[in-house]
Amino acid sequence: MSLDQNLNKIIIIDFGSQFTQLIARRVRELGVFSEIVSHKKIKLKNINNSVKGIVLSGGPLNVYQNNKYSFDKKILRLDIPVLGICFGHQILSKLNGGRVKQSKHREFGLANVYKKNNSLLTSNFFRNKKSKQVWMSHADQVSKLPKNFKVVASSTNSKFAIVENKIKKYYGVQFHPEVTHTENGKKLISNFVFLICKIKRNWSSKDQKNKLITDIRKQVGTKKVICALSGGVDSSVVAQLLNKAIGKKLYCIFVNTGLLRKNEEAQVVQTFKKRLKMNLIYVNAKKEFLKKLKYISDPEKKRKIIGNLFIKIFERYAKKIKNVKFLAQGTLYPDLIESKSVTGSQTSKIKSHHNVGGLPKKMNLKLIEPLKFLFKDEVRKLGLELNLSKEIISRHPFPGPGLAIRMPGIITNEKLNILKEADYFFIQALKNHGLYHEIWQAYAALLPVKTVGVMGDNRTYEYLCLLRAITSEDGMTADYYEFKKSFMQSISNKIVNSIRGINRVVYDVTSKPPSTIELE
Ligand code: XMP
Repeated sequence: MSLDQNLNKIIIIDFGSQFTQLIARRVRELGVFSEIVSHKKIKLKNINNSVKGIVLSGGPLNVYQNNKYSFDKKILRLDIPVLGICFGHQILSKLNGGRVKQSKHREFGLANVYKKNNSLLTSNFFRNKKSKQVWMSHADQVSKLPKNFKVVASSTNSKFAIVENKIKKYYGVQFHPEVTHTENGKKLISNFVFLICKIKRNWSSKDQKNKLITDIRKQVGTKKVICALSGGVDSSVVAQLLNKAIGKKLYCIFVNTGLLRKNEEAQVVQTFKKRLKMNLIYVNAKKEFLKKLKYISDPEKKRKIIGNLFIKIFERYAKKIKNVKFLAQGTLYPDLIESKSVTGSQTSKIKSHHNVGGLPKKMNLKLIEPLKFLFKDEVRKLGLELNLSKEIISRHPFPGPGLAIRMPGIITNEKLNILKEADYFFIQALKNHGLYHEIWQAYAALLPVKTVGVMGDNRTYEYLCLLRAITSEDGMTADYYEFKKSFMQSISNKIVNSIRGINRVVYDVTSKPPSTIELE
């Protein structure tokens, strides 16, 4: 689990929160190495001198469900600063003699916390204001503080919203400072890391690049690696990383699933084969994918079928190349947590991301997933460090199952062709209006309903096209992008007038949560 035993770090003990990865990310953004360990796996003996701070994450549990979590209390007696977040705050209080009970008012969403006392944790957090907006997500709360703890801030519903025990260096917050909705939340984390834990910066993209290249060389030896190249940011960075590490021992396999964006295949071949001179094998598997997906409309089934077929094709080509021992993939940290928590904690499963959840049980290749501890923006920085072009690095994410999960219901060639055109017009329009880079991810989807329209003097009965454009930092949470009316009108006109098969365009205005970014 550990990336480096010797690096000074902050460890995050995961109790299953959807946001645990974000805490790690926030710490790393500060240039400090951080590592996540499950509450089920953490042992007192794992905590050596390199651990300079401990964060207890949130989680879906209740502090009185003693049998559901295991946590060695002795970990808190090591004279290492501790920050408890949400459930972590409750458990910290309970283990020190405080009380936790069900709140009268469950709090989900924005709330204000009001300053009560000074603390190192909140230094420059309130910035001369009495209150700050924070993001809460809890049903229980601390109802009685342990001895020697004091209140630093309260909200209307949570008297003990921020607390501290300065002597023991214990800090607790009822809300989530790691999510962007908490105003100035990064400051709290930075205060914990630098002022309280007193750790020095030790984590940059250059450090990561050198470490990953050395690790890959060690792992691969004289064997060959195939890399699942999709042309997206993640797999491009993986390919270039392996290219730098092992050169011609790398074989990139690009599978045209038929579920790609318009012209994608030509662009990938041009970039990686012609420009970057990598070993690239182009596999046209359009028919194979469509055949397997025929009549399938269940999202999880689609994902599993696509994931399994991907791997089968890789294995088929690996055999042809001979002496291939490894398969490299661009799996990221969020992919892991949303498929099945990396740390084995209680996070509930949202979707099977194809490059994780869809893997067949018995694989003949070993996996290399060098980005599996990185977030998207860290991957982008790493890509720049590896001299990949800005154009590749700043592409919007594109999911492995491709257009299949942007077409609820069954998949047909006709629908795919319609969707490819709509998506192409949308993305082009974003680029032409200088909006592409303001948006984290955008796409068109085709909904499995037909509605009535009128064109010329004729009745039409055609598909509904949904446009989605979101802003996000990492794909874990997202907000819809607010377009000007003129842009919406022009793209809607362009799609309806140019594409036969669509007569209505709608815009998705849901955020994540409660929605997800993709439709399936
Ligand atoms: P959701 O829909 O879960 O998407 O909010 C979060 C981010 O992940 C991308 N995504 C995937 N990427 N394989 C991938 O490589 C997948 O199976 C997959 N499913 C979703 C999605 O496009 C968004 O950026």
